[in-house]
Amino acid sequence: MDSTEQIKALEWVEGKLKLLDQRKLPEREEYNLFDSAEEVAEAIRTMQVRGAPAIGIAAAYAIVLAARKQYQTSAKNWQQAIEVELTLLAESRPTAVNLFWAIELMRAEICKIEGDPYQPLLNKALQIHKDDLQANKKMGALGAVYIKSTEGVLTHCNAGALATGGYGTALGVVRSAVSKGLKVVYASETRPWMQGARLTVWELYKDGVNATLIADSAASWLMKQGKIHWVIVGADRIAANGDVANKIGTYSLAILAKHHGVKVMVVAPTSTIDWDCPDGEAIPIEERDQSELLNPVYKGKVSAWNPSFDVTPADLIDLIVTEKGVVERPDNKTMQPLRL
Ligand code: MRU
Repeated sequence: MDSTEQIKALEWVEGKLKLLDQRKLPEREEYNLFDSAEEVAEAIRTMQVRGAPAIGIAAAYAIVLAARKQYQTSAKNWQQAIEVELTLLAESRPTAVNLFWAIELMRAEICKIEGDPYQPLLNKALQIHKDDLQANKKMGALGAVYIKSTEGVLTHCNAGALATGGYGTALGVVRSAVSKGLKVVYASETRPWMQGARLTVWELYKDGVNATLIADSAASWLMKQGKIHWVIVGADRIAANGDVANKIGTYSLAILAKHHGVKVMVVAPTSTIDWDCPDGEAIPIEERDQSELLNPVYKGKVSAWNPSFDVTPADLIDLIVTEKGVVERPDNKTMQPLRL
């Protein structure tokens, strides 16, 4: 059984959305069923489901739930009424552009529908999910070509099956490279939410991949020992010039990589590219609650700053791997073929 069957962050089951509650991992593998868009928006906000592509897919399924409810309430006005849920979903998290991309695809479908929207919208959501999985498999193969089996890789956050429609973006490349003989895989813990320590390590362990966890602060020392040749990460939003917003700490890793002659590979489907953002300055960066960082003892006494993402400038990135092809040394010009 490969990770696609083993690890399902989201699944449509008998008219409901089933989500693996990622807040509970790795201690408990707990699933929750959702039958309203309001609940799914809350699940995205509280990170039961997280990772840019998975957030987009969850929103697409949430829109199916919303349309079913609104159509039952009023077969005439459901297309106007559903705007409330679309807005709620759009407000759930700000940085991952896949959320807005999926909402726009579903909105375009909504505009075309005459009659009961349930089946056509469900078909569209299932297609978005399936396309994402296929894109990940393709990117896995494209990215792995660059990695020699004798090299070492470091991945940050969780850009795996849990964060996507299956298989993963950065972890898809890692999985593909491991299947071709790669042996040295490191995962950084990814403070403060610990996506690396809790989720990436869980996924890779389940897959039988022998990964080594490091504290975020150990990355420079690890690079200094010559153990790392590639930093491989996903993305939440890529600007038109190739600047990449991803989990906080990615920018630090890219700077460290430059200093140590380590290459940086970003792996993301084209649904993560925001052509309306000319550069990283225009990408909204989510700031999450201080409580994710601050010991409760200090509540009200000490403040914490908790940005969830940072922006890595394109000139620190060697490769952007997408399902449409690989961009080497991204900039405004080299990114253009991905637009087609
Ligand atoms: O806050 P999260 O856990 O949703 O952040 C996730 C990341 O930053 C991932 O690296 C990114 O979404 C790519 S997932 C394929």
